[in-house]
Amino acid sequence: MSAEGDVGNLAVDLKQAMRGFAQSVVIVSTVGNDGARYAMAATAVTPLSMDPPSMLICVNRTASSHAILEGGANFALNILHTGQMDVARTCGGAAKGEERFGSGNWQADAQGVPYLADAQAAIICHQRQRISYGSHDIFIGDVQAVRLADSADPLVYFDGAYRRIGDKL
Ligand SMILES: Cc1cc2nc3c(=O)[nH]c(=O)nc-3n(C[C@H](O)[C@H](O)[C@H](O)COP(=O)(O)O)c2cc1C
Repeated sequence: MSAEGDVGNLAVDLKQAMRGFAQSVVIVSTVGNDGARYAMAATAVTPLSMDPPSMLICVNRTASSHAILEGGANFALNILHTGQMDVARTCGGAAKGEERFGSGNWQADAQGVPYLADAQAAIICHQRQRISYGSHDIFIGDVQAVRLADSADPLVYFDGAYRRIGDKL
């Protein structure tokens, strides 16, 4: 067990704790004023509220899409299904920039925000707020539109690997 003040061990233990924190894999996608598209795999994605319908994401300031989001860009949150591991890998760092859009059925909404038409769900967000903390920024978006597939079989990241959810208890 580690505690505040024991910074080295605290980070190691927190990483270990988070390895056991199963989360759905989401692709955050956005577009710059120049039309350049960005996509990034993320698990730090949380439903914030239903009043108003809103979501939050945590984005490392080193990520290529950060500057675009910092400029106030709207974004889409694309929840992946188990058939989309290739998209997760591509957008998790295997490819860069526009090459990331080579995997998956990418479309653009009326405002030009790219979304994954074959995702389990695509949630289009209008950016409302940014909060800086440590190495990351939290971006809050009001939900503008939701596109849903007929069924759900989410791609989950747990203990350093992509997985499918198991049996109902
Ligand atoms: C499963 C998984 C989850 C990730 N979750 C996040 C996240 O929540 N926030 C974040 O900033 N980066 C996250 N990353 C890392 C980014 O996907 C990665 O750093 C980004 O694609 C970097 O590429 P870029 O700077 O070239 O855009 C995650 C990566 C993987 C593989």
